[in-house]
Amino acid sequence: MALHDRWVQERKHEHYYKLAKKLKYRSRASFKLMQIDDRFGIFRDGDSVVDLGASPGGWLQVAKGRVGEKGKVVGVDLRYIRPLEGVTTIIGDITEDSTMRKLIETFGGKADVVLSDMAPNIGGNYSTDHARSVDLCMYAVAVCDRILKKEGKLVVKVFMGDMLGPLLDELESRFKSVKVHSPDASRETSSEVYIISKGFLSSRNVKLKDISEEEKKPEFRAKGGNI
Ligand SMILES: C[S@@+](CC[C@H](N)C(=O)[O-])C[C@H]1O[C@@H](n2cnc3c(N)ncnc32)[C@H](O)[C@@H]1O
Repeated sequence: MALHDRWVQERKHEHYYKLAKKLKYRSRASFKLMQIDDRFGIFRDGDSVVDLGASPGGWLQVAKGRVGEKGKVVGVDLRYIRPLEGVTTIIGDITEDSTMRKLIETFGGKADVVLSDMAPNIGGNYSTDHARSVDLCMYAVAVCDRILKKEGKLVVKVFMGDMLGPLLDELESRFKSVKVHSPDASRETSSEVYIISKGFLSSRNVKLKDISEEEKKPEFRAKGGNI
């Protein structure tokens, strides 16, 4: 990458970092969600929202602010999330059945919006990181299959790679509209993109009593084999 491009990216990174500090957002990532909402109209007043991979809580702050007093926001993360007024948090791994159950029980109803900014630990091997990121997306889809309302929305982050196409196919089988977007606040060096899916078709909703160890998530059929 050219030196000038790198310089521009670093300035942009620093700009959002400073802005987050100034406005008391817990992460620079807050601006990505604000920009996505401003462009795609994700939140409505009073909405119920699930946020996967929510620590340290920047997206939770944005979601709570945008759904207002009557809205419900529940965040899940492997890591501790500092308490946030009006927001419920769960510490757990969403790939584990026990966390999925806890989320469904704690949420206690259907969600209007599922968010996932989950990212795997970056191991340095690009295709492995991409595969893990796609796998996390499929757990976000599994959450949708369990608690997303008909016509609900999903915003999910993914690292780009050759399984993006099959992932989009999975989403297109469940949502009326699926769009790939890179918000300005995403670093240009980063391979991440966000997939904004709207109009959940809901026919696959799985009931809590049907969740078992064997039935953890929908099968993902990548063109080059399963992940
Ligand atoms: C980029 S950070 C999220 C930042 C957050 N959106 C914010 O604005 O503060 C990604 C998060 O995904 C979480 N994560 C990764 N895998 C997870 C899993 N299997 N279950 C729950 N959280 C996970 C990580 O612990 C990490 O905190």
